[in-house]
Amino acid sequence: MIKIAVLVSGSGSNLQALIDANLSGEIAGVISNKPEAYALERAKNAGIATAVIEHKQYPNREAFDDVMHQQLLDWDVDLVILAGFMRILSAKFVQAWEGKMINIHPSLLPNYKGMHTHQRVLNTGDTLHGCTVHYVTAELDAGQALAQGVLKVTLHDNADTLANRVHVLEHLIYPQVAEWICSGKIQHTKQGVLYHNQPMLEPVQFCKL
Ligand code: GAR
Repeated sequence: MIKIAVLVSGSGSNLQALIDANLSGEIAGVISNKPEAYALERAKNAGIATAVIEHKQYPNREAFDDVMHQQLLDWDVDLVILAGFMRILSAKFVQAWEGKMINIHPSLLPNYKGMHTHQRVLNTGDTLHGCTVHYVTAELDAGQALAQGVLKVTLHDNADTLANRVHVLEHLIYPQVAEWICSGKIQHTKQGVLYHNQPMLEPVQFCKL
């Protein structure tokens, strides 16, 4: 059985969706860089091990990442799921977990990498928005996309309503992708990403239009 660690910084609603999905993999532990993150309560309520590794207590990014890396090895983790983890990871850490680490980002990548995605979508006047699950590579929000949730921006939307509507899609697609990895439907190989044993040429799309 695949062992999973979930890395969080905040509320952890995506962690909750992963817990509630009863994945065929086991969530072995949750790491937070913030001691006050509500995600830690969610993990404890589900009987999942937690570790608080505060980035502020380390002299630099690499030192912080080394401690996280060791914790992941201690839990014997096969898959790292970033779920609202708001720290940029060092190249060394990303390389160590390349092909074994996924992230969810609140935009239709490659559009709107980085922060404040909902407001930027509104500022541009886009009619479509959503979220993307992707493998993590050294370049921020640029690894291969595995799935996208797409919604239509309405005239009534503001950044808060968009954040809420995107969250609903996130809670749908993240557990699904995690399960595809746990069950071997998605495989990361030297030849590229396979989906049902075929090259994955584009992300699987879930639409709520
Ligand atoms: C999610 O919307 C996720 O897409 C975003 O943080 C939120 C975490 O919510 N992640 C990023 O912006 C990463 N760049 P949650 O703590 O309720 O799961």
